[in-house]
Amino acid sequence: MAHQAIPALTGRRALVTGASRGIGRAVARALGAAGATVHLLARSRTALEAVAAEISTAEGPAQMPDQLPAHVPAHVHVGDVTDPVSMNRLLEELQTAKHLPDILVSNAGLFPLAAVSDTDPALFEQTLQVNLIGPFRVLHALLPALRAAGRGDIVTIGSVSDRHIFGGNGAYAASKFGARALHEVLRTELAGSGVRCTLISPAATDTPIWDPIDPDNTPGFPPRAAMLRADDVADAVLWALTRPAHVNIDELRLSRT
Ligand SMILES: NC(=O)c1ccc[n+]([C@@H]2O[C@H](COP(=O)([O-])OP(=O)(O)OC[C@H]3O[C@@H](n4cnc5c(N)ncnc54)[C@H](OP(=O)(O)O)[C@@H]3O)[C@@H](O)[C@H]2O)c1
Repeated sequence: MAHQAIPALTGRRALVTGASRGIGRAVARALGAAGATVHLLARSRTALEAVAAEISTAEGPAQMPDQLPAHVPAHVHVGDVTDPVSMNRLLEELQTAKHLPDILVSNAGLFPLAAVSDTDPALFEQTLQVNLIGPFRVLHALLPALRAAGRGDIVTIGSVSDRHIFGGNGAYAASKFGARALHEVLRTELAGSGVRCTLISPAATDTPIWDPIDPDNTPGFPPRAAMLRADDVADAVLWALTRPAHVNIDELRLSRT
């Protein structure tokens, strides 16, 4: 009898931040479908539970019950990436449960639009907290275990705005340029460690992040139909993660044709 192939990420544990909707949801679903156990993090419990149910009820990966332990494919964690206390508690719980992730997808993000002169300093700071400082804390906490294991993946969802400047984008650009800089330094420092480090930088992608802007009816923005899909970004993440272990995908930049 022919066996189905074992999915590529079987045995891997992924923590996806901002998994309750948009790109994070698509990434979590793709990693779950590829056999990973997925830890979903965001602030909205109901939305996370819906994503977990989608992953759990999706046609499961081929498993050979005599060889692979039964596993719960998705776990919900309600938390705020800007809260170091709850993030540290989560990572300690995962470590105690021997469930520390070996894949981190730092995806949770804020996208405020305002001219620099109209940007409240509190919003500027919050954007850096969500898009840069919170992700730094999580990867900083995970790095020792990944280094000790000599394997693992740190994936950062950047943006077209981590290299290109648009007016009205000061807080977001500062956070995403910073995230790319952090990624590049980390990649240099991790060379030879077995731990991989990938930056995925999409152009405009049709997700709820655009809801406050209503791009279909606001001049100067691409209509939703001309944007990337969240699944396109998830495909890129999955592709990077499923390269041979000696291949590091440094950076993928996605735009619409
Ligand atoms: N959509 C685009 O055009 C685009 C393009 C390039 C890059 N990106 C980047 O892609 C990432 C995802 O964007 P998206 O479009 O999918 O946005 P989205 O639909 O608004 O989703 C954002 C996610 O982040 C979570 N989140 C926000 N603040 C959080 C916090 N403090 N703690 C924990 N989770 C938090 C949200 O969940 P809760 O509200 O439940 O916490 C949600 O799951 C972001 O980093 C964004 O900058 C997006």
